[in-house]
Formats: sequence, C-alpha cells, structure tokens
Amino acid sequence: MSERKINAMVTGVGMYVPEKILDNKYFESLVETNDLWIRTRTGISERRILEKGATSDLATRAALDLFEKHNVSPNEIDVIIVATVTPDMFFPATACLVQERIGANNAWGFDLSAACSGFLFAFQTGCNLVETGRYKKVLVIGADKMSSITDYTDRNTCILFGDAGAAVLIEPTEDKSLGLQNSILRIDGKGKEALYMLGGGSLNPASHETVDKKMHYIFQDGKAVFKVAVKGMADVSVELMEKSKLKSEDIAYLVPHQANLRIIDATAERMGIRKDQVMININKYGNTTAATIPLCLTEYYRDGKIKKGDNLILSAFGAGYTWGASHLVWAI
Ligand code: COA
Repeated sequence: MSERKINAMVTGVGMYVPEKILDNKYFESLVETNDLWIRTRTGISERRILEKGATSDLATRAALDLFEKHNVSPNEIDVIIVATVTPDMFFPATACLVQERIGANNAWGFDLSAACSGFLFAFQTGCNLVETGRYKKVLVIGADKMSSITDYTDRNTCILFGDAGAAVLIEPTEDKSLGLQNSILRIDGKGKEALYMLGGGSLNPASHETVDKKMHYIFQDGKAVFKVAVKGMADVSVELMEKSKLKSEDIAYLVPHQANLRIIDATAERMGIRKDQVMININKYGNTTAATIPLCLTEYYRDGKIKKGDNLILSAFGAGYTWGASHLVWAI
C-alpha cells in the first residue's frame, strides 16, 4: 500500500446544547427511580432537552458556533456529514437541511447512521475524504434529539438520554505527526437483539399498531448491552494503543462516548490511564448519542485543557452493534 501524502486534522470545534434542563429529581415524578440510583448506576445528574425544533436545529447551531469561533465562511465547506439516528425525517437528509440553514452553497453531503458510534464513523469517513486530496474542508456533525424517540414511561431508558449537537472541521495537513493516525472500527449485527427502535422503517411502517405497541421508541436490554459495551470499548481501545505504539503515559485523553460512567471507568482501567486522562461530561448531558464525543472535544478545547500535539483516543460503542476507536493527534 502506498504511503498517504496527506493527513486529516481537526481545525475547529463547535457545540449546541438546549437550555431546558431535566435533573434526576424530575424523573422521580415520572417513573419509579431516584437521583442516587441514576447517579451511581450511570454517572448522570442532568440532561438537556430540546423543547421546540428538531435535530437539524441542534446540528445547525453547532455548525454556526464552529464558524463563529474559528472564523470559517460557510461557502468554504466542501462536504457536510451529519451522524444521527434521529434525523428530522427519512428524507431529505438532515445534511441537506443543515446545508440550507448555514448557507454552505458549495457543499455536498449526507447522513450517517451508526447510533452511538455515529460520530466516530462519520469522522473516519470525513478524514478519508480529506486524505484523498480532493476535499479541503469537511464538516462532521454529531447531533441527536434523543427525546423524540424516548419513552418517558420506561425507567430503563428514559433517564439515560439527552439532546445535543456538536461539530468538528477537518482539513488537510502535510505534517504526518498531526491529525488522524490510526483507527479500528467494527460492526456486528447480533446487536439488533438488544438495542433497537422497531417501528417507522420498511420492516414495520408506521401504523396504529406500531404506535400502540410503542415501537417508535428506543428499546434496550441494558444488562446485555452493558456487558458487550464494556468489553468492546476496552478491547478496541487497548488494541489501538498497541497499533499506535502508545503507552498509557503517552495519552493526553481518552475521549469516550458518554453512555455510562461505569463503562468509561472500566475502559480507562484496562488502558491503564488515570481519571484525569479521561474526558467526562455525562453528568451534565447524559447520553446524547452521536454528539457525545465532539461535545467533549469542544468543551475541553475551550477550557484550554487540550493542546497541539496531544494524543487523544476517541472510543465508542453503540447500537448495531457498532464500535471502535481512533487515535487523533490534536492540531490546534
Ligand atoms: N431507577 C431505578 N431502578 C432501575 C432503573 C431506574 N431508572 N432502571 C432500571 N432499574 C432497575 C432494574 O429494573 C433492575 O431491577 P430488578 O433487579 O428488580 O429487575 C435493577 O435496576 C438493575 O437493573 P440493571 O439493568 O441490572 O441495571 P444496571 O446496573 O445494568 O444499569 C443501565 C442499567 C441501563 C444504566 C446499564 O445497563 C447500562 O448503562 N447499559 C448500557 C448502556 C449503553 O452503553 N448503551 C449503548 C450505547 S447507547
């Protein structure tokens, strides 16, 4: 295989979280649960909910935030990839709706569906497009309005999810020490038994029956997913450390998908890294599916906690199953 001439690096970040906060206490009035259970079993204290609007609003605001902070003009964008499992509608793609709203008049783009690994898979795709040399600015957005598919009478799932959007800009560099270095990405359709939304697709088109049977909501066998998620995320992160020849002390941060603090802790432990080497914001936002990783990157970057040259391991596990890890060297 010929050596790559161009690396793909992150040159900008942006985010949007809705104003409305639902704290754990609120759920005590909805289902049989309590603040202590939620905090100790998941690490979540509160999450944000978008009251009006859809996923394209979350994605658009994240993109505009990125443009403003990094002085990017929408006409410079070549490609828009939106990772989401809660598109505004089946078609047109959310990427098209975002394109119009932000005024990216020279872009093409598409949506990508990989649930909680959506950002990781979209990021890999965006980097690959940049590495060809054909595209100079690729906008990758992770956005989900999880509240639109959450059953607020199911205590197993309703406490877990929140709404958010976050974005990164990917650009080329000839400096091979920067940007995406290595990735390991996987899918396994056996996951369809444990985490899914059955209704609304071509298998079970919307009908009175699908609504009555609550088929338009997330279903999760939490215990089953927990077991494979812990193993999957830890295994792939350790495998990537070996592939990239990184020791635990070489890693500035693990940037994990924020589904459950116990999954994150187990992954960090297997990687041999300290707690202060792990990006965490699940306490504030819950699981925002495709948005969690770019949300972490944006907050930590803006707090001055990441610097150029830092080794980051992005790692996720989600419905499908989908999972993987990427070694990114921070470039700004
Ligand atoms: N409040 C109080 N009790 C609850 C509860 C809640 N919100 N949700 C579930 N419980 C109960 C269960 O009903 C069960 O009761 P039982 O023993 O009487 O049946 C008990 O708590 C333990 O349930 P269990 O599923 O074993 O809890 P858990 O410790 O595994 O935590 C999750 C549940 C969902 C937090 C956890 O399984 C999880 O995080 N799973 C993976 C999520 C994930 O990574 N998804 C992939 C990416 S989206």
